[in-house]
Amino acid sequence: MTGKEYFKDKVVFVTGSSKGIGKATAALLGDYGARICVNGRNSEAVELTCSEFEAGGITCLRLPGDVSDSEQCKSMIGKIIREFGRLDVLVNNAGIGSHGKFKELDVKAWDKVVGINLMGAIYMTTYALPYLSETKGSVIFISTLAGKLGMPGHSTYSVSKMGLTALAEAMQVELKKERIHTGIVYVGFTENEDNKQILYPDGSYKKLPARNQKQAKREDVAMSIAKAIRRRKRSITLTAVGKLQKFALRFMPFAIKIILKKANNDYDKMYDH
Ligand SMILES: NC(=O)c1ccc[n+]([C@@H]2O[C@H](COP(=O)([O-])OP(=O)(O)OC[C@H]3O[C@@H](n4cnc5c(N)ncnc54)[C@H](OP(=O)(O)O)[C@@H]3O)[C@@H](O)[C@H]2O)c1
Repeated sequence: MTGKEYFKDKVVFVTGSSKGIGKATAALLGDYGARICVNGRNSEAVELTCSEFEAGGITCLRLPGDVSDSEQCKSMIGKIIREFGRLDVLVNNAGIGSHGKFKELDVKAWDKVVGINLMGAIYMTTYALPYLSETKGSVIFISTLAGKLGMPGHSTYSVSKMGLTALAEAMQVELKKERIHTGIVYVGFTENEDNKQILYPDGSYKKLPARNQKQAKREDVAMSIAKAIRRRKRSITLTAVGKLQKFALRFMPFAIKIILKKANNDYDKMYDH
């Protein structure tokens, strides 16, 4: 079945779809004919993205709101059901990057990163599940290669994303009989929006420092996410680095120790420790 055949008229909610990978994913699924629910905290960005989508013929629902607030998640799912009467796909994409070594991290940083990346996905999935059960739909978690390792200098981010793996694994078994598809996508370095911000150790947002690693295109990541939904995949790992990491985790655990030590040294150089 092609993307157009699979997604036509489906109701898809991509959290954090006003920008970045979420926007590219929502745009692709909208082009395939899905009705799209667009979210982000900044309502102007949600409005801009929806106007852009509508100009291209995509049916759009505006859902400005913060996924780390359970009441807002409940209300967003309620609006989708009132508007479209169903939900076929939930992509838990809203997320923030972060950095900081454990001893310099303010607890505010933990609250924000875990609150958005992990609790946000948990709240939204909780409220979406009864409707996904009716449609035998899909719930997808967007993780990262740093969600398979405890990355030195990025423990907040790794912890929040590793939690998604635990949740996805448990749900895959628990929801098998209900035929709800649960998948997790481990995304590698991807091109960012110019003004992307991440959370610093003191719990404040600042600009993401420039990266010199090879980065995937957002449109290619979106294509992989669409395929994972259509083929009801349990887990996919993107980029060559991701595939190498997957191999090393399974067959060369000693190499992982070396990778983590190097990451620690690189972090110290980058942030002048
Ligand atoms: N870019 C990469 O290299 C990369 C690599 C691996 C994994 N990922 C993962 O991919 C996902 C998207 O990343 P991205 O690079 O596309 O980020 P991005 O460009 O910063 O976009 C993040 C999106 O999420 C929204 N968002 C953030 N916090 C939110 C909250 N509390 N409630 C609702 N929406 C919120 C943002 O809108 P507002 O700011 O207006 O809320 C925006 O629409 C994240 O889960 C990230 O961890 C990214």
